[in-house]
Amino acid sequence: MDYGFVHVTDVPHDDPNDTKKLLERIAFIRETHYGGFYDFKPDLAMADTAYTNLALAPHTDTTYFTEPAGLQAFHLLSHESEDGDAAAEGGKTILVDGHKAAKIMQAEDPRGFRVLMQTRLPWHASGNEGITIGPARRYPVLQHADGGAPRIRWNNDDRGVVPFHKDIAVEDWYKAAAKFNSIINSEQSQYIFQMVPGKVLSEFTHPDAAVASNILTVAQSLTTGVSSTAEPPSRVSGGFVEDIVSAPDMACGAGCI
Ligand SMILES: [Fe+2]
Repeated sequence: MDYGFVHVTDVPHDDPNDTKKLLERIAFIRETHYGGFYDFKPDLAMADTAYTNLALAPHTDTTYFTEPAGLQAFHLLSHESEDGDAAAEGGKTILVDGHKAAKIMQAEDPRGFRVLMQTRLPWHASGNEGITIGPARRYPVLQHADGGAPRIRWNNDDRGVVPFHKDIAVEDWYKAAAKFNSIINSEQSQYIFQMVPGKVLSEFTHPDAAVASNILTVAQSLTTGVSSTAEPPSRVSGGFVEDIVSAPDMACGAGCI
């Protein structure tokens, strides 16, 4: 595989369970507060931007887990206009190669790169009744991994307060974040396409350095961002599939805040 995502075509889309069967052929499905496998409409059934028609910026999901989901799949089950008579517009998907973005960041702004690696942030999931989730400890945006590309956590909606520190000012972090944001939102960084019923998107969201050396280009060309970008009165199914290879200790390294 040369890229961090695959499309599976000719998947039945009348019944979401057919998508579930496909995922179960890949690996077991991780249970989360969304359920394991789930299908949904933009009806705000959960307090999450995924349940809206809002345009979303590229981001990674499950930043609030100690071990974020390693593989994520989406299947657009329907894409119709409000009255169902015409083809819908909007709802395109954006993919960004996060590891390439990190490399560009390292080359163009080495200090900002270090700031994003050294500042640990309080990621969290909250807003739904009875749900408050955070990782076992704070993690930086770019998580150091010996000899490999960093694991990336990038989600403005899940990020807590940027901590104060004597060596890295809050302004330094925001400056670095703005640079990284400009990289992932540049035209060259984004692959934009329209999902269609019958075509499942599966993306490697958080492979790590150990996996990179084993399955090569997957982690070298990680897909970190996926989002619907306009107004699809759509119905989507999918789920988080557990990492096939367990991750090693991804310590932040010396100097983390
Ligand atoms: Fe998301």
